[in-house]
Amino acid sequence: MVKANPGGSLDPRFIVGRDELIRQIWDVLERQCVLLNAERRIGKTSIVRKMAACPPSGWLAVFQDLEKIHTPEEFSEAVYRQVQQYLSWLPKLKKAAEEHKTGEYGLNSRSWKPLLEDTIRQLMDAQKKSGKRLVMLWDEVPYMINNIRKRSGEQQAVEVLDQLRSLRQENPELRMVFTGSVGLHHVLDSIQAAQISAAPVNDMYAIEVTPLESDAAKQLARELLLGESLTSKDTDKSAATIALEADYFPFFIHHIVAGLKLGGIAPEPDNIRSLVRRQLTDANDPWELGHFRKRIPVYYAQEQDARLVTTIMDHLAGCPDFISLNDLLSAVQMQGVTVNRDELIRVLRLMERDHYLRRNDDGHYQFRFELIKRWWKLDRGL
Ligand SMILES: Nc1ncnc2c1ncn2[C@@H]1O[C@H](COP(=O)(O)OP(=O)(O)OP(=O)(O)O)[C@@H](O)[C@H]1O
Ligand SMILES: [Mg+2]
Repeated sequence: MVKANPGGSLDPRFIVGRDELIRQIWDVLERQCVLLNAERRIGKTSIVRKMAACPPSGWLAVFQDLEKIHTPEEFSEAVYRQVQQYLSWLPKLKKAAEEHKTGEYGLNSRSWKPLLEDTIRQLMDAQKKSGKRLVMLWDEVPYMINNIRKRSGEQQAVEVLDQLRSLRQENPELRMVFTGSVGLHHVLDSIQAAQISAAPVNDMYAIEVTPLESDAAKQLARELLLGESLTSKDTDKSAATIALEADYFPFFIHHIVAGLKLGGIAPEPDNIRSLVRRQLTDANDPWELGHFRKRIPVYYAQEQDARLVTTIMDHLAGCPDFISLNDLLSAVQMQGVTVNRDELIRVLRLMERDHYLRRNDDGHYQFRFELIKRWWKLDRGL
């Protein structure tokens, strides 16, 4: 029985939905490596964990969280260990694994590149012999690259990305999936442009992860209500209310059910709506939404950009519909922000990339997520 556990690591059996997306990722992996893009807390890690738990036949998958890696050497060793794990699953290749273990490079700090190259060569040979393909599911890659940048310097961070790119080019059968809660573009932007030889991930296929499909969101809400023994007059209606109030983010669905349980609140639609209102204005910020505000000066380091972002969001928060670029330009200028059309477009593109905004078919703008819009209004007292 699944319990509400916002932010915790879920047993893959309790990861609801995502089947179509996972099928699509496996499909792309037949041909290419994958970059999973998404807003934080949307369920990226859960997706790759579910992939690792039940890969399609012919595939093996190893999940690895790279968050704690700070040097290229640690990274190279981590890949080595992943490949060892893969080899140990293939009885025929156990011997090869043993030989590799005592190979000429060892795990010392000066030889991360040869170790990585040798490990990948070993992997390619093993794949050929066994007919079982390995995909390395690497979570928190941008975070790791940023750690390496801080600990070992920009040059090393760039070299890791370059090395991975050349390994992908030299080994057309090599498959890796990158995901992470910080956009890779932010990490790359922080590395001086001159140091990056070519776009280091433009050979990977980018897939955007959205919140849950409506049916999966309702199913998750129903399962959590059941798991927490919360009964209502009409479970389907309560589950639909929870899904809608959470804007289909699984993380917020867990939060709502946890809040109902902890508060001893009957899961009726009105109670759910007022619980969400309280949680959205709770000074402790249980949904961690303050992040959307706090990261603005970090993501948009120039002060005038950060001010423009805030002004745009303030204006859009008050508009029920999508609005045109011309209207947005006049609105921000009216607020005393000096900006021309080109500068505004530049910042709007960055905001789209960071999942703050989206454009409709007419090219008009609005918040990407209704829930963030709602929270922004409350947070800014608009
Ligand atoms: N498909 C799902 N079914 C059930 N619960 C889910 C699902 N996806 C995510 N969750 C819940 O939402 C929480 C956040 O999910 P997850 O850690 O996968 O997101 P993330 O995008 O990797 O987050 P971060 O940006 O912090 O790395 C999890 O703890 C889990 O409780
Ligand atoms: Mg994650």
